[in-house]
Amino acid sequence: MAEPNSPDSVEPIFDRRAATYSNHTWHVRYAERLVELAAPTTGMRVLDAATGTGLAAIAAARVIGPAGHVVAVDISTGMLTRARQTIAAAGLTNIELVRADATALTQFGNSSFDLILCSAGLLYLSVPAALGEWHRLLAPGGQVGFSTMAAGFPVAAELFRDHARRHALILTDPATALGTRKRCHQALCDAGFTPANLVGETIGFSSHDLEHAWEAHTRGPHHDAVATLTPKQAETFQRDYTEALADLLRTDEDHLLTSEVIYAFGER
Ligand SMILES: C[S@@+](CC[C@H](N)C(=O)[O-])C[C@H]1O[C@@H](n2cnc3c(N)ncnc32)[C@H](O)[C@@H]1O
Repeated sequence: MAEPNSPDSVEPIFDRRAATYSNHTWHVRYAERLVELAAPTTGMRVLDAATGTGLAAIAAARVIGPAGHVVAVDISTGMLTRARQTIAAAGLTNIELVRADATALTQFGNSSFDLILCSAGLLYLSVPAALGEWHRLLAPGGQVGFSTMAAGFPVAAELFRDHARRHALILTDPATALGTRKRCHQALCDAGFTPANLVGETIGFSSHDLEHAWEAHTRGPHHDAVATLTPKQAETFQRDYTEALADLLRTDEDHLLTSEVIYAFGER
């Protein structure tokens, strides 16, 4: 299983990605779909763990209304700054932003939330530590919901790992821990939740998203490993990967731009 990146190494990575993160509309669709499937109701107390630029937090805040409250937690100050700007522009007053490690939220007592969401965040966290902490924070009868790429997706990321191997870099798919519905089911059970809805769907990327593929992978969960390459090795790797990606876009665009994803829900 892939080691989660440490909060110290993740923070600068996302501080740098913050400015352009929400330009990728698939991030927005992915987060909003999680909220849609979670179906929050008016007045709920919601935690959005690893909120990033606040996409799921904002979608949930709109549904739960002013009687409800969202706590949106992230380790990256840069991502939280973006979230703050978007929340202000949307005129929402029911979201509290907190800079913290989403796996250790000791400032919140047991049973503080009715719904805990984590969109596209668990690949950066220790799954048992995160789900264990969220079980403590959820009120009995509450719901946890998270999304993950299916193992082997996105195809562009799998291609990145194939090319890394050619440069003697062995990278583990960060979707390994949760990349099948069976594994999501098991992770929920292990943390004491009763698995509920486990939804497999696809999400589409645009070719524009691929323009930033190298940057996304080298500033994503593989950052620490890629940073061990010499500048020359990294340059060759980038060139080979970028060429292979362009070839695949020409020969099998549908496969490259479609990713299998899982939305998993459990009850406390
Ligand atoms: C891929 S982004 C997902 C953001 C958002 N949930 C979304 O759906 O767009 C992953 C986020 O996890 C955050 N993150 C990584 N490790 C974290 C940790 N230990 N505690 C809190 N946030 C963390 C990063 O800073 C980043 O904003």
